Amino acid sequence: MRSFPSFRSRRMRKHTWSRALITENRLHPENLILPVFIHDASKSEPIPSMPGVMRLCINDFLYTCETAVRAGVPAIAIFPVVTADKKDATGSHALEDSSIVIQALQAAKTRQLPLGYITDIALDPYTTHGHDGILQEDGTVDNDRTIQQLAQQAVVHAQAGADIVAPSDMQDGRIGTIRKALDRNKFLETSILAYTAKYASSFYGPFREAIGANPLKESGKKIATDKKHYQMNIANRQEAIHAAEQNLAEGADCLMVKPSMPYLDIIQTISQHTQAPVFAYQVSGEYSMIKLLAQSTQQDSITLLHESLLSCKRAGAQAILSYAATEIAQALQAGIV
Ligand code: PBG
Repeated sequence: MRSFPSFRSRRMRKHTWSRALITENRLHPENLILPVFIHDASKSEPIPSMPGVMRLCINDFLYTCETAVRAGVPAIAIFPVVTADKKDATGSHALEDSSIVIQALQAAKTRQLPLGYITDIALDPYTTHGHDGILQEDGTVDNDRTIQQLAQQAVVHAQAGADIVAPSDMQDGRIGTIRKALDRNKFLETSILAYTAKYASSFYGPFREAIGANPLKESGKKIATDKKHYQMNIANRQEAIHAAEQNLAEGADCLMVKPSMPYLDIIQTISQHTQAPVFAYQVSGEYSMIKLLAQSTQQDSITLLHESLLSCKRAGAQAILSYAATEIAQALQAGIV
């Protein structure tokens, strides 16, 4: 063991160049995935709880894709904001070709950008009650009925050109059901990014506001008001390992941990227990928390964002979804962080 006074850690910390030489982990633009919100309107609009993030109209969405490509971001993840008139109890609009996701995918694909398109497989943007599935009598999600619909949704997305489908619904057996449906329809090369360890977190608040999907009480109806009966228990780690094994056995190509900063131990555990790529999702609440801290302390949010994203890499994540992906990638390109 090296020790003081023959060893002084400050020697190699002294210069910018020497710090560079001993840097163990680096964040690259290539590690980042940009989640985007799209809506069916002629203009983009800001999301009050997420400083700097907008619900994008198709034109701005295309521009956002181009900017991400220029910054070196390899992929985007699309999340729709669905108007109230298109929502129903079963989220049927999720399967329609006229949906904003399909429109956006088709428009982006014709541009032939060097960009991967990840789509969200879940029903919460499309249901009146805001749950990620179809409800049964007792007001909870009907697992087996829901996964059939999710498989159909995945096929519709694959048909429109989605490169990776990412089920965020957290129902049991959905990875295998989706894989079988994709294979049956000859989408052998469409990947599945499983939201493996998606916790029943309180950090999703701004996202739910952004897409207008909060599990709510509909008058006179019994509906679960949170997602704890299908999202992972925030206290659990063993369960995450089991979920990773299950997802991989069912055909997942990549695994995800979500949120990121409060669950760095899970990122590390899963990346050590499996050979599969592990992604982290810096969720809306984490993003907003950092932006608000930067505002209230008058510091640049870039260094805060960089530090938080680097922690995910250090823990073992290959890629990270962040609402600040383009911003950080630009700063990395410019050598600011
Ligand atoms: C739901 C979904 C959620 C997020 C992504 N997909 C919210 C939820 O589970 O209620 C959250 C992402 C974020 O907070 O940035 N299918």
